[in-house]
Amino acid sequence: MQEKIIVLDFGGQYNQLIARRVREQQVYAEIVPYNKITVEEIKASGCRGIIFTGGPNSVYEESSPHFDKEILNCGIPVLGICYGHQLMAYMAGGSIKSAENGSEYGKTEVFTEHCPLFEGVPSESVCWMSHTDFVSELPSGFRTVAHTEKCPVAAMSDESRRLYGVQFHPEVTHTVYGGKILRNFLFGICRCKGEWTMDDFVTRSIEKYHAMLCGKKVLLGLSGGVDSSVAAVLLHKAVGRDLVCVFVDHGLLRKGEGDLVEKTFKDRFGLNLIRVDASDRFLARLSGVTEPEKKRKIIGEEFIRVFEQEARKLGNITVLAQGTIYPDVVESGRGDSAVIKSHHNVGGLPSVMDFEKIVEPLRDLFKDEVRAVGEKLGIPRELVWRQPFPGPGLAVRVIGDITKEKLDILREADAIFREEVESSDARGIASQYFAVLTDTRSVGVMGDARTYGKTVVLRSVTTDDFMTAEWTRLPYDLLERASNRITNEVKGVSRVLYDITSKPPATVEFE
Ligand code: XMP
Repeated sequence: MQEKIIVLDFGGQYNQLIARRVREQQVYAEIVPYNKITVEEIKASGCRGIIFTGGPNSVYEESSPHFDKEILNCGIPVLGICYGHQLMAYMAGGSIKSAENGSEYGKTEVFTEHCPLFEGVPSESVCWMSHTDFVSELPSGFRTVAHTEKCPVAAMSDESRRLYGVQFHPEVTHTVYGGKILRNFLFGICRCKGEWTMDDFVTRSIEKYHAMLCGKKVLLGLSGGVDSSVAAVLLHKAVGRDLVCVFVDHGLLRKGEGDLVEKTFKDRFGLNLIRVDASDRFLARLSGVTEPEKKRKIIGEEFIRVFEQEARKLGNITVLAQGTIYPDVVESGRGDSAVIKSHHNVGGLPSVMDFEKIVEPLRDLFKDEVRAVGEKLGIPRELVWRQPFPGPGLAVRVIGDITKEKLDILREADAIFREEVESSDARGIASQYFAVLTDTRSVGVMGDARTYGKTVVLRSVTTDDFMTAEWTRLPYDLLERASNRITNEVKGVSRVLYDITSKPPATVEFE
C-alpha cells in the first residue's frame, strides 16, 4: 500500500503548503477537511501519520472545529500545528488561554529540548509564530519540549503515544529548521520510506486507467494548457485511440499556438485529436462588443455550444476526462467524485451533460507535480513550462471591440515580445509576459511622413501565485529591442508602452 500522511484540515491558511512540504520529502500527503472523515476511516486508510493543521478559531468557541479524541489513542502518530497543537492539548485534557500581552507574530526565537521531533535541531533557533491563544496547561502524559519568551508551551510531546504539537509553523521557510522537524516527524516518528515519485505515479496511473476504462470511449477538452495536455497524454498511454480530444480553436489564440498544439499532440503523441476551427462564429458573436465582462460571457457560452456540438457528433461517449488538479479540488471542497450523472461546469465545459463517469487523473497533484509528470511523459518543455494564458485568450488583450485585423496585429506584436523575453536572461524573472493592443491611436513619424497608428502595451509580471504581482524590472535594452522591432515589423503600430503597474492595484490582464 502506498504510504500516506493525512493532513486534517482545520481551515488554516497554510494547509496546502503543509501537504507540499510533505510531498517534497516524497511522501504522499492528502488534505482532508476535519468534518469529512471519521476515526474509523482514518484507521482503515492505513496512513502512516496525521497532521492537524492550523486554523483561525479558538478551541473554546462553540462553533470551532473539533475532532473525535479517539484519534489520539489509535496508535497513529499525530503532529498538531498551531490550532492543531492547541486542539490536541484540549482534546487530551490540557488548557488553552488567550494571550493577555498580545499575539505572538512573526520570526521568534524558540528554545527546544531533546526529543525525536527536534533531533538535530539546535536548542536555540528561529521559528515563525502566528497566534493569540496558547497552551497554558499540559495534558497528562505530555511534556513541554519547546518554549519562547511569550509562549510557555511552544511544543509538547507524548512520546509513548507518538503525539507531538508545535505552536509555530514548521512548514513556512522562516522556521529555519522547519524542514528538519517535518522530516523527523515523517521518517523518524512515522517511519515513512519516502517512495512517492512521479515515475511511480505515471506507471500506476497508466495501469489504473487502463484497467478502469478498458473498452470505453473517453472525451477530453484539450485547451493546450499544461493541465489538460498532461491529462491527455497520460490517458492516451492508458487507453490509446479510445481517448478523443476536442481542441476548440476560438481564433483568440497566440501566434502559432493552434498549430503547435495540433502538431505536438497529433503528430508527436498520436492523439486522436479533433481541432475545431470555430474562429468565425466566435468573432461574429464578439463583433462590436466592448464591455470586458460581456466578452468573457460570450466566449464562455460559445465554447460550451461548440463543445456540445462536437460531443453530439461523436455520440456514445460515456466518460469525460478533465485536467482538474489538486488546488482546484481543495479549493472547491469537493469529495471524491468518481461516478456522477454530471451537472458540472469545470474549465468552460457544458453545464449539463450526461456522462456515466468523470475521470480526473491529476486530481491529487499540485501544479509543479503536474509539470514533472508532463516531463516524464515527454511533453516538450515549451508546453510543460508555458506561462498561463487566460481562457478568453486575446479577447481580453484587445481593448474595445475585437476584429480579425486587430487580433492579427496583436499576435505579431506579442510574438516579438515573447521572443525577445525568451531569448534573454530576463526569462527567469518574468512569470507572465505579453502584449496588449489598446484602442488609443497616436501620432508618429516614419520616414518623413506623419503616421497615426495604434498603441501597443507590453506587460510583464513577476509573481509566485498570480494573486499579487510585481511589474518585472525588464532590462532597458530588451524593451528597446522589442519596441524597435514592433514598430518596424508590425504594420499599423506607431507607439509601444511598458506597463509599470503592480497587482494590486492593477490586475495582470487589462480586461
Ligand atoms: P488577473 O488579470 O486576474 O490574472 O490578475 C491573474 C491570472 O489569471 C489569468 N486569467 C485567467 N485565466 N481564465 C483563465 O483561465 C480567465 O478568464 C482569466 N483571467 C485572467 C491571468 O492570465 C493571470 O495569469
